[in-house]
Amino acid sequence: MRTQVAIVGAGPAGLMLSHLLHLRGIESVIVERRSREAIEATIRAGVLEQGTVDLMTETGVGDRVRRDGFLHHGTILRYGGRNHRINLYELTGGRCITVYPQHEVLKDLIRARLEAGGQIVFEAAETSVHDVTTDRPRVRYATAGGEAQELECDLLAGCDGGYGVCRAAIPAEVRADHLRIYPFGWFGILTKAPPSSHELIYANTERGFALVSTRSPDVQRLYFQCDPDDTVQNWSDDRIWTELHARCDSADFHLKDGPIFQKGIIPLRSFVCETMQYGRMFLAGDAAHTVPPTGAKGLNLAVADVFLLARAIGSFYSAGSFELLEAYAEAALRRVWRAQHFSWWMTSMLHRVEAGSDFDRRRQIAELDLITGTIAGSTLLAENYVGLPLG
Ligand code: PHB
Repeated sequence: MRTQVAIVGAGPAGLMLSHLLHLRGIESVIVERRSREAIEATIRAGVLEQGTVDLMTETGVGDRVRRDGFLHHGTILRYGGRNHRINLYELTGGRCITVYPQHEVLKDLIRARLEAGGQIVFEAAETSVHDVTTDRPRVRYATAGGEAQELECDLLAGCDGGYGVCRAAIPAEVRADHLRIYPFGWFGILTKAPPSSHELIYANTERGFALVSTRSPDVQRLYFQCDPDDTVQNWSDDRIWTELHARCDSADFHLKDGPIFQKGIIPLRSFVCETMQYGRMFLAGDAAHTVPPTGAKGLNLAVADVFLLARAIGSFYSAGSFELLEAYAEAALRRVWRAQHFSWWMTSMLHRVEAGSDFDRRRQIAELDLITGTIAGSTLLAENYVGLPLG
């Protein structure tokens, strides 16, 4: 089999790239490990930047996000038992975030690709990439039926996440891995209960961080900081609610609870792979970087990467020029590091550090006062949270 651009991974990066390339008249094939059903049912991130929603709208996949997504004009920082609202809309000249689950974005993109005749190979096993430093890179995999396949291409996009084969195919000598592991994780739950708040609440409390988010009018997504080595079995529903209420409730606020139907612990890490290019292979999304979820940047960064990559691939085919492709990694990494800084900053401002001193705690409160109490501070948070313009 042969295609112009082979894409490994049907997550936000791979699917959006394939969609953008199609609009430029460039053909691609996506090779994905999981089944369509699994991808469309896995609940992950939920916050879309303004630029992500705009891009979906401009490229014809924005109908559902505009109908079913929740537009949030503000976000709340909570500390000292009080809510402090950041007015995203006013501080950024009319930009907002939209709460719309990642798997719904994926459903929209998968449908658009398949309706346009795009090819997505689901349930591909033993995927490997070859000859990426030649002008004929290849992807090998086995189909769900066990048949060995080879896909030859002009360019290869590695969109297969943090544990995929593409990044691993870049020799250690030509790449630098920048990693920070945080000494805490997030315990996340889904609960059948109406939203406790119209806007997201990021809470810095004596007992540790908590986040109040939503998924739909009757499902809340809640998180609280935990030991990354803890296990879900240690947390009964009662214990979870006691902890969440202890962190969130006060005279003017009461968290709504309900039956818990999903629990999980996620570790927090920051990671960047430099470079994002090896020969004719280009990394995008989690294959190249990970952010802690505190800044809600993961999915948006994947979209920003492929926005640049699609433009560079477009100029490769239209002008026969490698120039933009050679500049891709540097351009993408500039935004990646901005998002890394923002995510690290939000994380360090909001989480309790076990070994921290009273000084650290007082410094966090002073920082939160600065961010919520001054125009300069709240604008800094708002502009980065709603997202920098694409490109
Ligand atoms: C979520 O709803 O899952 C969510 C929201 C905001 C974050 C992280 C996760 O910063």
